[in-house]
Amino acid sequence: MADEQKTAKLTFGDTEVDLPLLSPTAGPDVIDIRKLYAQAGVFTYDPGFTSTASCDSTITFIDGNEGQLLHRGYPIDQLAEKSHFLEVCYLLLYGDLPNAAQLEDFEHRVTNHTMLHEQMQNFFRGFRRDAHPMAVMVGVVGAMSAFYHDSTDISDPWQREVASIRLIAKMPTIAAWAYKYHVGQPFVYPRNDLDYASNFLRMCFSVPAEDYVVNPILSRAMDRIFTLHADHEQNASTSTVRLASSSGANPFACIAAGIACLWGPAHGGANQACLEMLREIGTPDQIPKYIERAKDKNDPFRLMGFGHRVYKNHDPRAQVMKQSADEVLDLLGIEDNPTLQTAKELERIALEDDYFREKKLFPNVDFYSGIILDAMGFPQSMFTPIFAVARTVGWISQWKEQISDPQLKIGRPRQLYMGETLRDYTDVENR
Ligand code: SDX
Repeated sequence: MADEQKTAKLTFGDTEVDLPLLSPTAGPDVIDIRKLYAQAGVFTYDPGFTSTASCDSTITFIDGNEGQLLHRGYPIDQLAEKSHFLEVCYLLLYGDLPNAAQLEDFEHRVTNHTMLHEQMQNFFRGFRRDAHPMAVMVGVVGAMSAFYHDSTDISDPWQREVASIRLIAKMPTIAAWAYKYHVGQPFVYPRNDLDYASNFLRMCFSVPAEDYVVNPILSRAMDRIFTLHADHEQNASTSTVRLASSSGANPFACIAAGIACLWGPAHGGANQACLEMLREIGTPDQIPKYIERAKDKNDPFRLMGFGHRVYKNHDPRAQVMKQSADEVLDLLGIEDNPTLQTAKELERIALEDDYFREKKLFPNVDFYSGIILDAMGFPQSMFTPIFAVARTVGWISQWKEQISDPQLKIGRPRQLYMGETLRDYTDVENR
């Protein structure tokens, strides 16, 4: 006999409705409220979506209480240690780890799409030199829909595939050129004989005046940072991409929307804000003052890089990032980096403080990433663009999953209206 449909009973006033209870392969059951308004004439209310599943997905699973992050079932710490970014991209896009031939073909396809249409350079030159690189990325990625017309028809699976590869391949070039434009150096073209992370480092840091040899320690650390930021379930920027794509907007416009959302300091902008905070704190003896400010309800100051909507135990990415920070700074011979020492002391003090323990606030993925990127030579303004480069595969994977869902409907939430009820217009002389 088929499993009996589990239901949740909702009773209020004279109304009683049975709502289907759906069981996931992992995580909490969900109450299917799609017919609630039709059956009971009420909405649910969840402004920050803290208790709302916006979709079903098979890509990434997070257990916030256990501090677990799985990509297609594989734990992030194993992927960070044993895999590499383009292999993780394949896993997220197609659902399983590639065999050798599949991986070679995928890497070849991405590598051979890293160049930008030459005319797109004009977009960079339209910005002020001191424009934030995220502003440039929003603009240039959105403009891709004006150049790559042969991959904007979302009803064509082949065009969806081409757009996916183009975005993953070109994001490092766009981010690197945003940086080069910012510092007034010539654009550096990608090279097909370099791996993804090495190509990005070379496009950022090489200059025509001398040869540039990629440091394998830095390219491995860069690749691992990309992997740690690749996807993260239905976070704010991914939800933005899904909502934009639900209207049928082309993939370049949807990813530009995701970049714009990621920019905020409560989300992807936290890595830049965190390093700025650590620099403002300066030395460990100043930490208690900032801890008290973070606890003060009347002070808008937050500990950047701390806390998470989902993780209430620890962010598994932060632990890998902390280990990588130690390795990279040590291998670079940056002994006793004061910012890293301040970060470690801040983490130690905060995790012993009752306020942070009660509110279950732990370092998140952004707490240590900025220290590594700073040591690698990136300015703080490039931290979030790097996050965007990595997250593009997550946005695209989630976009592809949603677009191919036959039940796709345009996202259109309702509201709890608290404004004026019906009233008549009054002429100005009568007001
Ligand atoms: C990312 O969602 C994702 O998956 C995002 C991300 C991804 O990979 O896509 O993981 C990437 O965005 C990581 C988060 C980066 N942001 C920051 O580091 C900014 C600092 N963090 C906070 O802004 C906050 O913790 C959030 C935004 C990350 C989470 O906010 P929540 O879950 O809505 O938590 P909350 O604001 O409701 O906080 C709960 C309590 C509050 O106190 P009370 O109202 O209960 O009294 O904890 C306090 C907050 O005041 N609190 C903090 C704090 N974060 C939360 N207090 C001090 N410092 C902090 N950092």
